[in-house]
Amino acid sequence: MLKDKHWIKADFAACGGLCPLFRKEFEAAEKPVKATLEITAKGVYYAEIDSKRVGDFILAPGWTTYEKRLQVQVYDVTGLIKAGKNTLDVTISEGWYHGNIINPHKKAAQNDWDAAIIACLTLTYADGKTQEIDTDESWFCGKGAVQYADIYNGEIYDARVCGGEFVPVTVDLQASTETLIPQEGEKIVEHEVLAPIELIVTPKGEKVLDFGQNLTGYPAFCLPDAKAGEKISLSFAEILDKDGDFYNENYRDAKCQYLYTCRDGAQSYKPHLTFYGFRYIRIDEFPSSIPFSPDYFTAIAVYSDIRKTGELISSDKELNQLFSNIFWGQKCNFLDVPTDCPQRNERLGWTGDAQVFVKTATYNYDTERFYRKWMSDIAAEVGIAGKIGMIVPNNSPDTISAEAWSDAAVIVPWQVYLSYGDKALLERQLDSMTTYVETVIREGYNHHFGDWLGLDAPAGSYTGSTRPELIAQAYLAYDFELLAKAHEALGRDGSRYRVLHEEAKNKFRTDFTDYRTQTEHVLALHFGLAEDAAKAAAGLVQLIHENNDHLTTGFVGTPYLLHALSDNGYTELAYTLLLQKSYPSWLFSVRLGATTMWEHWDGINEKGEVWSKDMNSFNHYAYGAVGDWVYGKACGIQIPEDGAGFAKVRVAPLPDKRIDSLQASIDTRHGKVSSKWYHKDGKTRYEITVPVCAEIVIDGKTHKVEAGTYLF
Ligand code: BGC
Repeated sequence: MLKDKHWIKADFAACGGLCPLFRKEFEAAEKPVKATLEITAKGVYYAEIDSKRVGDFILAPGWTTYEKRLQVQVYDVTGLIKAGKNTLDVTISEGWYHGNIINPHKKAAQNDWDAAIIACLTLTYADGKTQEIDTDESWFCGKGAVQYADIYNGEIYDARVCGGEFVPVTVDLQASTETLIPQEGEKIVEHEVLAPIELIVTPKGEKVLDFGQNLTGYPAFCLPDAKAGEKISLSFAEILDKDGDFYNENYRDAKCQYLYTCRDGAQSYKPHLTFYGFRYIRIDEFPSSIPFSPDYFTAIAVYSDIRKTGELISSDKELNQLFSNIFWGQKCNFLDVPTDCPQRNERLGWTGDAQVFVKTATYNYDTERFYRKWMSDIAAEVGIAGKIGMIVPNNSPDTISAEAWSDAAVIVPWQVYLSYGDKALLERQLDSMTTYVETVIREGYNHHFGDWLGLDAPAGSYTGSTRPELIAQAYLAYDFELLAKAHEALGRDGSRYRVLHEEAKNKFRTDFTDYRTQTEHVLALHFGLAEDAAKAAAGLVQLIHENNDHLTTGFVGTPYLLHALSDNGYTELAYTLLLQKSYPSWLFSVRLGATTMWEHWDGINEKGEVWSKDMNSFNHYAYGAVGDWVYGKACGIQIPEDGAGFAKVRVAPLPDKRIDSLQASIDTRHGKVSSKWYHKDGKTRYEITVPVCAEIVIDGKTHKVEAGTYLF
């Protein structure tokens, strides 16, 4: 596993910004019967053998807490090696290791970029003999065709460069191999390939391709001809502004370049070491020697290799678009780590966003392996600082915890366990869950985001009006409860956390005798903290009515808002909010043409104006957390806590007259569970399939059933 190999470095690239190409030429005595390349890099890399790409992993080795863990990839390259002379090329860029995504303070502490790779190519011949090609002093490095690449700033590529000046590498005998681990997460790969749906000439006269879907990935082109030195330069955007002009000020400082210099003849290209978040691309420059055609371009969606397991379908077109936006929001932000957004200068593993969306995420896709890796990074960060901060992997030198964000350390492992049922994974995570909670007990939280982006925020504030101390106390109580359950699920003593939970609940009741915002009510209800749930629910209903049946909740309140209503007898109002079309609501963005989830309820306002350029992503999955209410309450698919992984199932649908039919299904570890209801001849009908023993609750009546399909 490369532990006994050596890192080789391209010293000329240490200042950053360059993308060294490492080259090794070698002779194969004959065509090997097997060839395996083990490799990783301090940055992101792609490898080629005789100009053919090795594997399909984009942006390998992915992003981990590099101080502790760096994944090694193993590729079967048998088909790429020929008898005689071969060339192995590896191009790297700073990526998540040392690129602009790393906070400048952390970068300053890291000093120069250690532009290094470590690899071993093993050839096995027919007679059983093997030949090893390791990273050593026989390698060379130089500047290749990738002139520049950065996660935020895009890629510059010169197709005329086919081999520059090469110098010997430096073998770094001091560099440790201790952090190397086998690939743990899903690899990142290409998925959907979209053709442009329209070539728009904007009022400003700019040529813009519309791919019809906001996505994460990159455009590719294939040209029949061009002249050396001609250029293709593209810019990216998620939306057009109210006049129909290209708009990407919301990308902030992320330059998102795509600058390609042609060689002579037919050619094709897609970036290698970056990604973009976009629906529209503006053609800033195109070879004058050939007529422009949109047909030269495609957009390729790139994300972790997660398998779709969930389905949400309704009779309502706008709801279906919302469901599609939830799925796309997930795909776009599941690029090796669960990120906030894929386009501006963030794209970070924000822990708050991750925890509010984890339940929906585990139903929509099989994300167990994806989260397994991210949870290892949570554990690694807890190992470093005793807690996690706002972002995992941490891109800054400090670890600043915040309630509802850092509590992902507890909430994510517990939900992943509930959804997939792997006790060993929960066991593995228990230490970091416990250490994190004990640190919060000792130190409290270091920062408050409040009900982030709540609409009851005072003007100019992002944090909503919900009292941060209330959120903190509610989340601490929730952590205690989940930690107690986790201990008990593993057959351990959870009594310390049961007691702490009781104390925290009592303190919440003493400290907060009234609830002042929708989110305050929601937390008190959903976390079981309200002394008088009926009164709290009535209070929530009143606030919603006072706001004309609209929500005001932000990141903290929104995920539980509909649960708090339907769990307390107000299902109809929950549907009113789900189906609400006017601002603020889920369907408001759908009505304005959204194809992914917006960060803000008013990313674009009723006048068609953008609310701000500073904090305005059109691809944040957080509000997509409403998906778990549709699976779990509207369609009623639930996991009893003694049925982790859907070993047992409860289905208790809550239909509504305003939707003709609604259907959800989840492909679980035990088979497919699905729940559909529709109205026919004045009656509500149900079709429910369960793969295991289940409890089906229809109109308040409980039916105990075996695996099978049932009609009511
Ligand atoms: C991110 C969020 C994140 C937040 C912290 C933002 O800039 O995009 O999604 O949770 O900061 O409040």
